[in-house]
Amino acid sequence: MDMAQAKRLVRERVRERPAAEGRLSGKLAVVTGAAQGFGLGIAGELLRAGAHVALADLNLPLAQRAAAELNAAFPETRAYALPADVSDRASVEQLVISAAEVLGGIDIFVANAGVLKAGRLDEMTEADFDFVTRVNYKGFFLCAKYVSEIMRAQFEADGTRWSDIIQINSKSGLIGSKANFAYAGGKFGGIGLTQSFALELIPYQIKVNAVCPGNYYDGPLWSDPEKGLFVQYLRAGKVPGAATVRDVRDFYLSKSPIRRGCTPRDVATALFYCVEQTFETGQAIPVSGGQIMLS
Ligand SMILES: NC(=O)c1ccc[n+]([C@@H]2O[C@H](COP(=O)([O-])OP(=O)(O)OC[C@H]3O[C@@H](n4cnc5c(N)ncnc54)[C@H](O)[C@@H]3O)[C@@H](O)[C@H]2O)c1
Repeated sequence: MDMAQAKRLVRERVRERPAAEGRLSGKLAVVTGAAQGFGLGIAGELLRAGAHVALADLNLPLAQRAAAELNAAFPETRAYALPADVSDRASVEQLVISAAEVLGGIDIFVANAGVLKAGRLDEMTEADFDFVTRVNYKGFFLCAKYVSEIMRAQFEADGTRWSDIIQINSKSGLIGSKANFAYAGGKFGGIGLTQSFALELIPYQIKVNAVCPGNYYDGPLWSDPEKGLFVQYLRAGKVPGAATVRDVRDFYLSKSPIRRGCTPRDVATALFYCVEQTFETGQAIPVSGGQIMLS
């Protein structure tokens, strides 16, 4: 199937969508980077709320395993695994076409895939900077570019339809991050893209918002026992006086007034707000336990 065929398909299907029980009953969603971490948790919350979800990831076997587990846990809705490299133009176009084909349309696109390579100016290589920027910044552009084609086609066929593109950004998109500028810069840029896409796409009832989570300490990025950030920061002596992973964790927990880490459910709550609210677009919503307060 090519893009023109995918658009024809979603136009035909848009009026005959099957319904499921739940808050997002019958909605069709794509989540990138959904094989693990926040993306996997978000996909589960979307399915629980009645949406059908395509889990897109670079790691297809892991996404396939995740989709099988989610289908067992939520038999009323369907999860599909699709391969995707969000930093690659052809791969993103193919992802959008395949998702439109397996789901029958796309109402919610969650641009969640992201990578992190921390480092000071004197240690950051050009290759690492490019890698982080390609996935976190350019990847969001590519996803919005292709999925908006499908969403526009749906709107043209049914002018009552609203769609959502939601970037999973970060609190590091709202405030600078020491020795982590490649990540923070791309995330700040993501908010610029969010606002600009929002202005461009609202005539087609496509809202574009960003959700800016605080740290997900129980997720693999932080808690992986070998390469998680807690272990890395302990080894690097980043937290003065910390002797154990527990000490590093306590140090980070103390940074947010609500002293716990962010969870996928916290992120999904903000995501539901974005979808249900038809009088807001172009926003960047912190979900950081009060660590970031907007002025
Ligand atoms: N973990 C946190 O504390 C935290 C905090 C704030 C924001 N975020 C953001 O949340 C998002 C998810 O982070 P996470 O911690 O769950 O990450 P993670 O490393 O646990 O999972 C990321 C997933 O994305 C996939 N992926 C990586 N590169 C990809 C690419 N080019 N194309 C497609 N898939 C790709 C990986 O295979 C993996 O399954 C990221 O955008 C991240 O910046 C994370």
